[in-house]
Amino acid sequence: MLGTLTILFLALQLRLVAGHASIWHPSMWGFNVTESTFHYDNRPVSPLQHYSFDQWWFHGHLDYPPHPQDVFELPAGQNVTTEITCDKAATSFHDTNAPDSGKSIIDPNDPDNVCPGQPISEFHTKGLDDVKGCALAIAYKSNVSDVAMEDFTVFSVNQTCVWTRFTDFSVPKDMPPCPDGKCICAFFWIHSPDSGGEQNYMNGFQCNVTNSVSNVPVAQSQVARRCGADPLLGKVDAVAGNCTYGAKQPLYWFQAENNTLFEGAHSPPFYNDLYNFKDGAQNDIFQGFYESIPVPSAFQTKLPILAVPSSSSGSGSGSGSGSSSAPEPASNSTSSGSAPASSASSLPSPSSSGKKTCRSRNSTSTAAKKRRSNLSIRSSARAALDARAAAPPPSGHGPAARPAGSFMSRVLGTGRQHRQRSSQRFH
Ligand SMILES: *[C@@H]1O[C@H](CO)[C@@H](O)[C@H](O)[C@H]1NC(C)=O
Ligand SMILES: *[C@@H]1O[C@H](CO)[C@@H](O)[C@H](O)[C@H]1NC(C)=O
Ligand SMILES: *[C@@H]1O[C@H](CO)[C@@H](O)[C@H](O)[C@H]1NC(C)=O
Ligand SMILES: *[C@@H]1O[C@H](CO)[C@@H](O)[C@H](O)[C@H]1NC(C)=O
Ligand SMILES: *[C@@H]1O[C@H](CO)[C@@H](O)[C@H](O)[C@H]1NC(C)=O
Ligand SMILES: *[C@@H]1O[C@H](CO)[C@@H](O)[C@H](O)[C@H]1NC(C)=O
Ligand SMILES: *[C@@H]1O[C@H](CO)[C@@H](O)[C@H](O)[C@H]1NC(C)=O
Ligand SMILES: *[C@@H]1O[C@H](CO)[C@@H](O)[C@H](O)[C@H]1NC(C)=O
Ligand SMILES: *[C@@H]1O[C@H](CO)[C@@H](O)[C@H](O)[C@H]1NC(C)=O
Ligand SMILES: *[C@@H]1O[C@H](CO)[C@@H](O)[C@H](O)[C@H]1NC(C)=O
Repeated sequence: MLGTLTILFLALQLRLVAGHASIWHPSMWGFNVTESTFHYDNRPVSPLQHYSFDQWWFHGHLDYPPHPQDVFELPAGQNVTTEITCDKAATSFHDTNAPDSGKSIIDPNDPDNVCPGQPISEFHTKGLDDVKGCALAIAYKSNVSDVAMEDFTVFSVNQTCVWTRFTDFSVPKDMPPCPDGKCICAFFWIHSPDSGGEQNYMNGFQCNVTNSVSNVPVAQSQVARRCGADPLLGKVDAVAGNCTYGAKQPLYWFQAENNTLFEGAHSPPFYNDLYNFKDGAQNDIFQGFYESIPVPSAFQTKLPILAVPSSSSGSGSGSGSGSSSAPEPASNSTSSGSAPASSASSLPSPSSSGKKTCRSRNSTSTAAKKRRSNLSIRSSARAALDARAAAPPPSGHGPAARPAGSFMSRVLGTGRQHRQRSSQRFH
C-alpha cells in the first residue's frame, strides 16, 4: 500500500521534473554545450543515468575542453565559492553562451536561487532537510587523458547542496601543489530519491591548488562504504567500523558501465555522513594521516589510529589549532560492547533526519521556496541545525576529537561579504 503510493508519487515526480543542476565555470569541459550540440540534450545540467562510460565520464564533454588558461583556483586552507544552477542563464556566465547571449534569468530579488522561476523540485529537493550534499574531487594529473576513475579523490563536500546558487567549498589546508601547475577536478552530486527519478551528476573542470604548505601527496582513494545511520532503511545508528576512512573516490553509480557502487534507485549513495563524507574540507585524505586503518566491515570493532602529527613530515600545520584536521569517524558504533566509542560529535547530516513528510508537492515546494528566499528564516533553520550540532559530543576516546564548536562556526561563518568577495575572484 505504502509502496504503491511511493511508486505513484515517484512516477508523478518523474513526469513533472524537467530541470536539473550543475556547477558552472569557464574552466569546465562542456561550458558552451547547448541543447543542440549533441543529438540528445547533453547540457552540463543534464542528468546522467544508465549511460555508457564515454557518455557519463566528464559528461561526455571531453571533446569540448576549456581554454587552457581558464583554471579554477583552489587556495589551500581557504573557501571557494562556486555557482550551481539549473541553467547557465542563471549564473554570472549567462552572457558567454552565444545562443543565449546576454539573457540573464537571475532573479534580482533572489540572486541565490538555483532555478529562478521554478519550484525547488527542479533541483530535486523538497526542502533544506532533504538536500543530500555534493562534492568536489581532484586528480593530481594535468592531462585529462591520463585521468582514471580511481585518480579522483573527494577533497571537499557541501552537505547542504544543492540549495543555493552560490555554494562554498572548503579546501583542505594540506593540499599539495598540482603537477605542471594544473590538476583535473570534477563536481559530483546525487540527489534525494524522493524528489525525482534517480540520476548521477559529474562535470569536469581544470583546477590548480595555490597557497600550498605541504608536499604530502593525497593517498590512493578507496570506494566509500555505506556506514552512516540510515533510519529510512531501519538502521538507527551509524556503524563506525564499516566506514571508509581517508581518501575516498567519488560515487560512481547508476550508469550502464563502470559503476563502483551498486545500490538500488531507492537507496542511493550520498555525499554526506551516510558514506562518511563529512561536511566541509576532507582533511584526512593525505598519505600518512592515519597510522593504521583496519579493514572496514559491519563487524569491525577497531577504528583507525591517527598518525602522530609531527611524523607526517612536510605537512605544514597551517592554522593555530593544528589538530583541526582530525577526522571524525561516523557517529555511534552499534557494534558490540568492545567497539571504541566514537568521538564524533553529533553532527547532524541532513540525511539523518529520517522523517519524511507527506505534504503535497505543491505546498511543500511553496513553503520551502518561501523559506529559501527569506534569508532570516533560512538562517534560523541553520541555527536549528547548529544547535543540534553544538550538543556536546560523547566523551569517547576514539581516534580524534574535534572541537565542538567547529561545525557551528563553519556553518555560521559564511556571509554575503565573503561570498561576494570570493565569487568575484573566479569571474
Ligand atoms: C564559449 O563561448 C564564448 C562566447 O561565444 C566564447 O567567448 C568562449 O571562448 C567559449 N569557450 C569555449 C571554451 O569554447
Ligand atoms: C595528453 O595525453 C594524450 C594521450 O596520452 C596525448 O595525446 C596528449 O598530447 C597529451 N596532452 C598534453 C598537453 O600533453
Ligand atoms: C555550503 O554552502 C553554503 C552556501 O554557500 C555555505 O553557507 C556553507 O558554509 C557551505 N558549507 C560548507 C561546509 O562549506
Ligand atoms: C598553479 O599554482 C601554482 C602555485 O601557485 C603556480 O605556480 C602555477 O603557475 C599555477 N598554474 C597556473 C596554470 O596558473
Ligand atoms: C557496510 O558497508 C557495506 C558497503 O557499503 C554496505 O553494503 C553494508 O550495508 C554496510 N553495513 C552496515 C551494517 O553498515
Ligand atoms: C569501463 O567498463 C568497460 C566495460 O566493462 C571496460 O572495458 C573499461 O575498461 C572500463 N573503463 C574504465 C575506465 O574503467
Ligand atoms: C550514541 O548512542 C547513544 C545511545 O544509543 C545516543 O544517546 C547518542 O545520541 C548517540 N550519539 C550519536 C552521536 O549518535
Ligand atoms: C498550488 O499553489 C498555488 C499557489 O499557492 C495555488 O494557486 C494552487 O491552487 C495550488 N495547487 C494545488 C494543486 O494545490
Ligand atoms: C522573512 O521572515 C521574517 C520572519 O518570519 C518576516 O518578518 C519577514 O517579513 C520575512 N521577509 C520576507 C522578505 O518575506
Ligand atoms: C570556510 O568556511 C567555513 C564555514 O563553512 C568557516 O568555518 C571557515 O572559517 C572558513 N574558512 C576560511 C579560511 O574563511
